Amino acid sequence: MSNEASFFTDRYPELGKGPVSLAPYISPEYYEREKAEIFKKTWLHVGRVEEIPNAGDYFVKELAVCDTEIIVVRTKSGEIRAMHNVCAHRMNQLVYEKCGNTRKFFCKFHGWAYDLEGRLTGVPDEECFFDLKREDYGLTQVACSVWQGFIFVNMQSEPAQSLEEFMKPVFGDIEGYPFEKLTCAFQWSSVVNCNWKLGLDAFQEAYHVAYVHGNSIADAIDKSNGGMRPLDVICGDVHRRLSLAGNQKSVYGNPKAVTSGGAAAAEALAESGGSRPIAAAALRSAIGSAKHDFPMDALPSGVNWTKSKNWLFDINVIFPDFYVSLRPNYYQAYTFRPVAHNKMLFEARVYYPEMTTAGGRFFLEYMKVALRDVLLEDMSTLERTQAAAETGAKSHMILQDSEILVRHQAHVVDRLVSVGSN
Ligand code: FES
Ligand SMILES: [Fe+2]
Repeated sequence: MSNEASFFTDRYPELGKGPVSLAPYISPEYYEREKAEIFKKTWLHVGRVEEIPNAGDYFVKELAVCDTEIIVVRTKSGEIRAMHNVCAHRMNQLVYEKCGNTRKFFCKFHGWAYDLEGRLTGVPDEECFFDLKREDYGLTQVACSVWQGFIFVNMQSEPAQSLEEFMKPVFGDIEGYPFEKLTCAFQWSSVVNCNWKLGLDAFQEAYHVAYVHGNSIADAIDKSNGGMRPLDVICGDVHRRLSLAGNQKSVYGNPKAVTSGGAAAAEALAESGGSRPIAAAALRSAIGSAKHDFPMDALPSGVNWTKSKNWLFDINVIFPDFYVSLRPNYYQAYTFRPVAHNKMLFEARVYYPEMTTAGGRFFLEYMKVALRDVLLEDMSTLERTQAAAETGAKSHMILQDSEILVRHQAHVVDRLVSVGSN
């Protein structure tokens, strides 16, 4: 790197360049402040609209980080609502199932009934109550809003910002990405014994790829600019993003090959036919199978915003704990939801276009298994890093320029929890 101001970090002097404290990763008290000042005041991703397409479809989300559990439901009018899963009579959990379809919610304790809007509609032996006004005993509503098909909730009764205001500054220019054409998902979830920030950190830099992923996908990353440095980064008030280049002469590093075919596929197969024969066979069998194509020039301006020819994908971290990495024709949506100061629920979903042939399905299976291995490699460091951080042997970590998103996260979280303690 030259002596000119060529570090990304130079653009964000408020982040500093010094060591970053480990206390926020291991302190139960700090976690309590994060719950109060961040998670109970911010929009949190809970799912996608495709999960509840019909009136009466619902799912239930446990949100330990907000000390509650919520029901997310599609009402008769097609609106999506969220409410606490707490019966207004004697507080039984109303819904026990994780998801389903219903006309009404019936409490399994004394049989109170609520409609899909959460209004109390039925009370057995109602005459024995004392001036019970049904309208006072509906379910407690939670603010709920949808951005590009992603459902978010906010525990504030009147959120300080609308979801749109929250998303626009950093992610307004990816609105219009073809999320609705990417309907074929595979998914995993796992409880990991590490702090949620530590989990996210392992996904918001590519410095680790050459080592942790040395045998799996390291050949997919473009190394022509040194140690897998970002094409560009953007650090917003709370959100952040990073764009990465790929080795177009690899199957994993050239995602557009499968839907574009032609020259893109020829390039992806040029070298991988020998070094990655199964990947190459999977790609060959899938070309032409995708239900939709995804012309690069139809993507919104914020996707591949550097307009790099070698673009691989963009990492978008939607504060606080939601990660969406966008390729031209598929995306990964990961949630790093805290459960305790040293425990998180990692939920990974990956969305592709539907494939119309057996060869296309084979390709998706190949990509699923390849990604499973990559995620296991990522997971392999997390509990070890948490345990090592908790020894107290080190009080700080040091970060290089390509790890700027890690630094930004630490800075933003600390700024927000500090406001609360002043
Ligand atoms: S607690 Fe739900 S009906 Fe009594
Ligand atoms: Fe990784």
